[in-house]
Amino acid sequence: MTDKKEQGLARGLTNYGDKDFSVYLRNSFAASMGYSREVLKKPIVGIANSFSGFNNCHRHFPELLEAVKRGVLLGGGLPIEFPTISLGEVFLNPTSLKFRNLMSMDTEEMIRAQPMDAVVLMGGCDKTVPAQLMGAASAELPAVQLVAGPMMTSRYGEERLGACTDCRRFWGKYRAGEVSTEQIQDIEGRLATTAGTCAVMGTASTMACIAETLGMSLPGTAAIPAVHADRLRAAEASGLAAARMIDNPILPSQVMTEKSFENAIRVLLALGGSTNAIVHLTAVAGRLGISVSLEKMNELSNTTPVLVNLKPVGAHYMEDFFFAGGVGAVLRELKPLLHLDTISVTGETLGDRLEQDPGYVDHRVIAKAEAPLEPQGGLVALFGNLAPRGAIMKRSAADVTLFEKTGRAVVFSSLADLAARVDDPDLDITEDDIMVLQNAGPKSASGMPEAGYLPIPKKLSAKGVKDMIRISDARMSGTAFGTIVLHVSPEAAVGGPLALVRNGDQIKLSVENKTIELLVSDEELAERRKSWTSDIVPPAKRRGYDRLYAEEVTQADEGCDFQFLQPVEEK
Ligand code: FES
Repeated sequence: MTDKKEQGLARGLTNYGDKDFSVYLRNSFAASMGYSREVLKKPIVGIANSFSGFNNCHRHFPELLEAVKRGVLLGGGLPIEFPTISLGEVFLNPTSLKFRNLMSMDTEEMIRAQPMDAVVLMGGCDKTVPAQLMGAASAELPAVQLVAGPMMTSRYGEERLGACTDCRRFWGKYRAGEVSTEQIQDIEGRLATTAGTCAVMGTASTMACIAETLGMSLPGTAAIPAVHADRLRAAEASGLAAARMIDNPILPSQVMTEKSFENAIRVLLALGGSTNAIVHLTAVAGRLGISVSLEKMNELSNTTPVLVNLKPVGAHYMEDFFFAGGVGAVLRELKPLLHLDTISVTGETLGDRLEQDPGYVDHRVIAKAEAPLEPQGGLVALFGNLAPRGAIMKRSAADVTLFEKTGRAVVFSSLADLAARVDDPDLDITEDDIMVLQNAGPKSASGMPEAGYLPIPKKLSAKGVKDMIRISDARMSGTAFGTIVLHVSPEAAVGGPLALVRNGDQIKLSVENKTIELLVSDEELAERRKSWTSDIVPPAKRRGYDRLYAEEVTQADEGCDFQFLQPVEEK
């Protein structure tokens, strides 16, 4: 419980060895910002604002911020905004995942170090929501997640366009020579035309739906488009909810429990959501000492239907999902499978929420549980001698004719090798081969980028080949699709079996059996291991955050969090 005596500016004083002096000095400096004495006595709701000129998805945050502040004032609190770093997905090198943990540390430490009684987390783009949830989980202060909301779609001729599934679709056509240079330039200007996160069920949308399912966002808010007036109303309500939690604190650990994570995995599977989300969920849960295993995900996947008909798997976009009923409609269909005694930041149980009038539901977008799009969940974890600790495949986005297949490996040893050779007309590859990318995992130089969507070699795409089995220790954008095996763990850079694959080896994929096998004898693999060397630059030869990352990042099945950010067991 929050101590009434230590609310607002009196919390967490700067240490000068004289408490009264600390209060006096802080009040004096706060007054310099124009606050009256009356206002400075109020409890404080911090607003973690991840606005950045390098984040197009958060472009509308200044307007959203004003609405959050209005809500906090309505609830009797003093809203004080503070900046954190932002992660604009396409503006970061080598990849945004590398900085998710940094943002989580920034968020956690600034929540803890500054005087606030509750916090609203303003995020949206792929890694920002997981980073904020991780930070809030560790800081353990009442917190409400407010997401940016999705972009609206645009048009190209008669076609609807939404980032970023259509980005990839048209790029594939351009590579195949079906779209001209002039056309692709025209399309480039129309793919992302409003504020907000990618318009399909990519990672940002998936994480927004997960935040609502976990109970960290207000009910009904995940899918509201960024530019809709309801988004501003959701911001105001989030500020009000955070202010209300000051006197009735609900801590992140009370909201994000083992049961709510199970609910979140169910929703992820029903959405046919992003593969990245499983890494993020594992990381957020890990901050609370809760384990999310791939075996558990498979167990839930067996009994969770795919219900949501959104790109990249289906036909529609996030704005359609919003008008079709959003997360609430999905939760209602999944009700018999969910833990209904979980609570949200409002204190309401999921069961109580689902008792309310569902409103209009468009079942063309959100299928009924008795007539699902697929009877089983959208993601599947694969195990075998190629991935002893697991790999992930988004079966809902894959070509079912490739699900049971043995093929010849065509190996690329790094992203640079892939870029140099994939379009070489002399590359020895056919559509029946299996493309393998090594050294693209969390500890590799590339930092586990969204490179698992290996491009189909030009000479094959020109012949009309649209999909092939592709295997790597990289990730894939939530907006991508294909028969793609990702997150192979342990990764090649630390000597996982993926590092030992050679051109011409046979690899066997079985989605039915949930296996991925390298058909090479143990003796031969042991022999190959003798000559294997890591090309990772050792942490001692690095500096700064890069060094910290190299030393501490965990494997994909552990959420790629830092080891030292896990909870410390109390003695
Ligand atoms: Fe921000 Fe896609 S680039 S969500």
